[in-house]
Amino acid sequence: MSLNKPQGHARMDDRFNTIAGWTLFSGIVGLGLSIASGMYFQADKHHAPETAGYPVEGVAEKGEGGGDVPIATLLASADVAKGQATFAKCTSCHTINSGGANGIGPNLHGVVGEAIGQGVGGFAFSDALKSKGGNWSFDALNDWLKSPKAYAPGTKMTFAGLSKPEDRANIIAYLNTQGSNLPLPAADAAPAADAAAAPAAEGAAAPEASEAAAQ
Ligand code: HEC
Repeated sequence: MSLNKPQGHARMDDRFNTIAGWTLFSGIVGLGLSIASGMYFQADKHHAPETAGYPVEGVAEKGEGGGDVPIATLLASADVAKGQATFAKCTSCHTINSGGANGIGPNLHGVVGEAIGQGVGGFAFSDALKSKGGNWSFDALNDWLKSPKAYAPGTKMTFAGLSKPEDRANIIAYLNTQGSNLPLPAADAAPAADAAAAPAAEGAAAPEASEAAAQ
């Protein structure tokens, strides 16, 4: 009996130590976790304004008031040479010289202002494009080149699109020089600009007007 007692104590002590140890351990783990999560959330807080700041900056820079810059405005300052360079993305499927052959896509000579999905060289257009109707206006080309798939669901043109409005304006200006030569739309012909500053000078006035209209 008397021998068992100390043993019993020893066991109790062991158990106590074990419990104390685990309690301490879980305390440390808990502390560690709360420090870690504190760091995590603090890091998150530090990052949040940074990431939120980007889109706002981008919108202010690109949209000049939130909306898309009208294609007419972009065309007024479009760069034909840059458009020609960007057209390299199209030449795997398109020729653009007068009387050029159809390839995977139709010859594009004089396409600006032409009937949509008809062509002149007997290209077999998809029903999706053939049934669109209307002509390739600057606006229609802008929508088409932004996302052919969205413009004419089911189109055969498996080209993702040009996401930058400036790229589209440049390439449309270039297309226009290849057999169409239509007058570019006036920069102030955009609906937003119409209301606010119809007779205003081009270029500088139009973005301001659309900004005012967007507010
Ligand atoms: C992978 C091949 C491919 C690429 C790359 C491509 N296209 Fe096309 N494109 C086509 C095909 C195919 C059609 C016919 C679409 C249909 O019938 O649905 C077409 C149609 C068109 C049309 C309509 C022509 C008409 O007479 O109605 C235009 C405009 C056009 N492409 C412009 C471009 C431009 C500009 C680029 C480069 C930015 C480009 N495409 C890149 C294959 C391509």
